[in-house]
Amino acid sequence: MSEHAFQECINPQCAKTYAIDEIHHACPSCGELLDVSYDWDKLNVPKNLSDFEKYWSERNVPQRLSGVWRFHDLTPFAPLDQCVTVGEGQTLLQNAQGIAPFVGVNPANFYLQYEGLNPSGSFKDNGMAGAFTHGKLVGAKRAACASTGNTSASLAMYCAVTKLMKAVIFIGSGKIAYGKLSQALDYGAKTVQIDGDFDDAMARVQEVSKRLGIYLVNSVNPFRLEGQKSIMFRVLEQLRWNPPDWIVVPGGNLGNSSSFGKAFIELRQLGLIKKVPRIAIINAAGANTLYRLVEKDSLRWNGGNYDKTLVRKFYSDMTAEGRRASTIASAIEINRPVNLSKCLRALDFTRGVVREVSEQGILDAKAQIGAGGFGCEPASAASVAGAKRLVAEGVIGRDERVVCILTGHQLKDPNATVAYHGMDAELYEKYLKNRGVTETPYANRPISVANDLDKIVAAIEN
Ligand code: F0G
Repeated sequence: MSEHAFQECINPQCAKTYAIDEIHHACPSCGELLDVSYDWDKLNVPKNLSDFEKYWSERNVPQRLSGVWRFHDLTPFAPLDQCVTVGEGQTLLQNAQGIAPFVGVNPANFYLQYEGLNPSGSFKDNGMAGAFTHGKLVGAKRAACASTGNTSASLAMYCAVTKLMKAVIFIGSGKIAYGKLSQALDYGAKTVQIDGDFDDAMARVQEVSKRLGIYLVNSVNPFRLEGQKSIMFRVLEQLRWNPPDWIVVPGGNLGNSSSFGKAFIELRQLGLIKKVPRIAIINAAGANTLYRLVEKDSLRWNGGNYDKTLVRKFYSDMTAEGRRASTIASAIEINRPVNLSKCLRALDFTRGVVREVSEQGILDAKAQIGAGGFGCEPASAASVAGAKRLVAEGVIGRDERVVCILTGHQLKDPNATVAYHGMDAELYEKYLKNRGVTETPYANRPISVANDLDKIVAAIEN
């Protein structure tokens, strides 16, 4: 345990602190979210970001190979040798020149950060390394999460590999892509399907983990977000430590955007960056709570004094109207994001913006990302669809340096891909037509041909 790390309420009017080995999902005093905070002046933090390059030569130490713990100096809540790793964070920032024309930006300055290359196929492994390390520190035997699929796949994998804890996962019925569900089942997680959606599962898992004393690894857990800061550290590392102009990220439960904001607040505080990138958070139009609250209702962080009455009214109207999240980007099919307040802080610090994108926009962007190589799942493509929209609006300049975060692997949701490319009429109906997606301009249609050599040759040559 680090003597220079503690938990701290993010509400500046409360700012109560708690020991690092306590377990809270919220501030016991005022109910706000908690941060992991550090006495930086008592810690030995590198003076320059390039100093982290010294760790590249220590890749035989598992924690230095980890793309999370390589930056342990910036997340030092547990001793390095106690930090849990399954090899997360070996991810790629690609200068995606082929996709830049679709977005409308200068190809030299457009980048995709492929977090789908993590061991369980999504960015969640960054955070799970953090949460698992804390869980180990407090001696947890079981860990739980509600999930749209990726958190549960990641939790199940960390449990199966490390045997430190047993996984209990909560999912909404029929709400999870099979690629993700298959992982949780294969890795042996106890899988509880709730009659409801993610928002219902999220509410229940908090009650159940409290009652049964199960360690919660959803992103209300501040140690999760410590791990996810490393996505930004790796983006900087791959840009030779020069911050980009924009980070564009899909928004669901708002853990990523919150952790990116915290990363930049701390890097700035430590004098490690001069320029702070702007964060653009992209909602699916069918799950657009953040977009509506921030862009329509002008909700702002306001030094921690954000308008809670407005938020309460928004949610009570949502309940009264029976509004449920609905999008093909099932990973971000979330209407009650648990990290809303932290996300407002991130938007405030980074002069961020929020946009919503349509199902059509998401699927077209996904097809273009796929055509550029590696690919991603639908939720991830919201980032590229959102960047395209912000360029069209003139908010992102054509020559600005833009990094879109691709949060999950293409193979997480193959049905969406196959439906778009027109392989299967039933899938097309379910995934596209029923959701109002009528055009597939970037479809790569399979060719059906009789089992006849001449006809096959003719089909290929035509
Ligand atoms: N992209 C993917 C692929 C995701 O799985 C998620 C969240 C998000 C984006 C949204 O990220 O919550 O940090 O804003 N998936 C969670 C899950 C909810 O259960 O796997 P966020």
